[in-house]
Amino acid sequence: MKIVIAGGTGFVGQLVSQLLLQEGHSVIVLSRNAKRSTPTDATQAQHIQWDGCTQGPWTQECDGSDVVINLSGEPIADKRWTPNRKQQLTDSRVVSSRTLGQAITEWKTKPHTFLSASGVGYYGDQGSKVVDETSPRGDGFLADLCLEWENAAQKIEALGLRVLNVRFGMVLGSEGGALPKMMFPFQWFLGGPVLPGTQYVSWIHQLDLARLILFLITHPAIQGQVNAVAPNSVTMKDFCHALGKAMKRPSWFPVPELTLKIVLGELSTMLTTGQQVYPKKALSDGFSFAYPTIQEAMNSIFSQPST
Ligand SMILES: NC(=O)c1ccc[n+]([C@@H]2O[C@H](COP(=O)([O-])OP(=O)(O)OC[C@H]3O[C@@H](n4cnc5c(N)ncnc54)[C@H](OP(=O)(O)O)[C@@H]3O)[C@@H](O)[C@H]2O)c1
Repeated sequence: MKIVIAGGTGFVGQLVSQLLLQEGHSVIVLSRNAKRSTPTDATQAQHIQWDGCTQGPWTQECDGSDVVINLSGEPIADKRWTPNRKQQLTDSRVVSSRTLGQAITEWKTKPHTFLSASGVGYYGDQGSKVVDETSPRGDGFLADLCLEWENAAQKIEALGLRVLNVRFGMVLGSEGGALPKMMFPFQWFLGGPVLPGTQYVSWIHQLDLARLILFLITHPAIQGQVNAVAPNSVTMKDFCHALGKAMKRPSWFPVPELTLKIVLGELSTMLTTGQQVYPKKALSDGFSFAYPTIQEAMNSIFSQPST
């Protein structure tokens, strides 16, 4: 298949691109900073310039694609959530989907599938309640953002495509996402859970996420919202314990909620609240997780055999 990945230069995009190429698909990465290159063999993706908000030569170059994946978006946790930053976070996701939708209307041959990233922030703070794809949206900025993001993707269905909104949990890998930032205090023997410690973390190993995306685009009967999380969410306390164990470091130094709130503002709610999300659809459709438990996932990232 010919697959377009907008935002394919990022942490998740690189992994997905690599897996798709290994499986024999051809990949076009849309990037705002594409170094123009023509792949010399089938193991490389083609990189094409776009700006995420207007049509251009990229529109015609992507015609004939079978699948379009949108992973674009300003990083959620890099800056404090000022009103201006919140708008950038929303626009970079919603406008990029809309722009891809406009391009697809012009293509002579339409793709069969549009897959968009979303997040488990959709469910808001759920305490210890278990939620799945049938659960209602929660409250807060991330829940509102996810709704707008998913609605923008869903509109593309009207063009005759299957649409998948994939709600990612915290994606675990040492090269990107939240884990490298969380590892830092552990490296200095100063790691510990963000309090209260009982808040749930829904997570997924990076390789399982790439495999799940491949599974979804190759199983045409699946559509709509899909939770991309391992079947065993854990509390923040257990998450940090597993991280410390894999790094052979203690998890003794808790981070008080107030400290985090002073440093990060509203963004701190991403760490001090959580949700226990269950991958009901992925499991019922036959997907098998290579890393179903947090210790297996952490051990694989830090290259230690599971115990
Ligand atoms: N990683 C996680 O744990 C996690 C969890 C839940 C949801 N997600 C979502 O999944 C998606 C992929 O995550 P990721 O970790 O791979 O993110 P990432 O590493 O930050 O990559 C996102 C990509 O989006 C593009 N981008 C950034 N700002 C943009 C803008 N204003 N307009 C258009 N494109 C823009 C960038 O590509 P160029 O600079 O090359 O254009 C970047 O490579 C994101 O939308 C993220 O919010 C991730």
